[in-house]
Amino acid sequence: MDRFVIEGGTALRGRVEISGAKNSALPVLAACLLTDQPVILHRIPRVKDIRTMMDLLIHMGMSLENGETGAVTVRAGSSLQPEAPYEVVKTMRASSLVLGPLVGRYGRARVSLPGGCAIGARPIDLHMRGLEQLGAKIEQTHGYIEATAPEGLRGAVVHFDRITVTGTEDIIMAAVLARGETVIENAAREPEVVDLSDLLRKMGAEIEGAGTSTIRIRGVKHLTGAEHTIIADRIEAGTFAIGAAITGGDVEVVGCVPEHLTALTAKLRKAGAEVTEPAPSVLRVRGTGRLLSEDIVTEEHPGFPTDLQAQYMSLMTQAEGIAIVSERIFENRFMHAPELVRMGASIRIDGRQAIVAGPRRLTGAHVMASDLRASASLVLAGLVAKGETIVDRVYHMDRGYEKIESKLAGLGARIRRTQ
Ligand code: EPU
Repeated sequence: MDRFVIEGGTALRGRVEISGAKNSALPVLAACLLTDQPVILHRIPRVKDIRTMMDLLIHMGMSLENGETGAVTVRAGSSLQPEAPYEVVKTMRASSLVLGPLVGRYGRARVSLPGGCAIGARPIDLHMRGLEQLGAKIEQTHGYIEATAPEGLRGAVVHFDRITVTGTEDIIMAAVLARGETVIENAAREPEVVDLSDLLRKMGAEIEGAGTSTIRIRGVKHLTGAEHTIIADRIEAGTFAIGAAITGGDVEVVGCVPEHLTALTAKLRKAGAEVTEPAPSVLRVRGTGRLLSEDIVTEEHPGFPTDLQAQYMSLMTQAEGIAIVSERIFENRFMHAPELVRMGASIRIDGRQAIVAGPRRLTGAHVMASDLRASASLVLAGLVAKGETIVDRVYHMDRGYEKIESKLAGLGARIRRTQ
């Protein structure tokens, strides 16, 4: 199993290019199931979760072709098997994203229920209830969800009891080919929902309100092929921004969308980092030598993203004072805290809050990554720790960060991958 060996103590300096957003590319790839014409996608990140989604599409009968410029062309094959088996999707929860397009276009889907997840129970009941409202019949047997709609789906009002990102995406994809109008209330406003809707509109879908809490979709008869560039990964960009601040470095995060990161950049400024936008799509983050504690509460977009909570907690171990980190989205997303404590951090967990007292001098240790973002927080801690840090189980990190060690090394970090 791969691990990272990090020699701490160097400030990150230079420019880093941000990849396409994993959480955008996943629904966008699933959306290709909605047409039999080719969809050309640019800036698909080469990370494990995307590979799994591609394998799933291939398993179902789609063909994927890599172009010379890195573009991926997705085409429907001659026959499609609307089934996502456990063996293909067991490592990726986002498999539920194929439910909506499959039942919307083919009238049936058989998708393995996602397994357990380190960060919380993560049910998909809201996806299923939404599909039922559109007229699908849903059964759960042998670990699979079977959804059928032999007469096709019909538009309806889908009100989500709580905001769900992939649930919103799933229902959008189910509704684009349904008869009549669908209104999604209490929809997720994440940039990834907007990106998916942008692609679907290029394919001929009629969608209004993506990026707000109410999304209206008027079903159309069929969708065509399209060409689309995935938005920048705001979580990757945020991770490098925190990396600059925690190491007291100076990094230009290039090719990102600063408006997607305002919850983080506001906190970084308050915590003492200098954040500027020297050019469009560029964020420059500079450590000023002193970090101050600043509380955060994770919320749905445009609030502080849960996917940057772990990395921010590492930053707060280096800040003066007490910071309260509150996790409101997932019930079990503090698995990085005990590992940070092993490196010398002072963190007390009280329910959904972590109380971080800083600054504490971290020292290198052998630590274990428990999920994707937790592994990023441990790598960041390793960058400021004295001596050598070994981060085990980096396959978690490979699920969502493209070429992370070479990007960090390009900024001067001393990091290598070993087995
Ligand atoms: N929830 C339910 N029922 C559902 C769906 C969600 O109770 O049917 C609950 C979840 O358990 C959670 C909350 O609602 O407590 C929000 O979950 P959401 O559905 O929004 O999460 P998701 O769509 O499964 C996406 C990202 C996650 C990110 C969350 C929150 C993708 C592929 N994944 O997950 O990304 O943390 O939204 O922003 O888009 C990551 O990239 O590391 C990651 C975990």
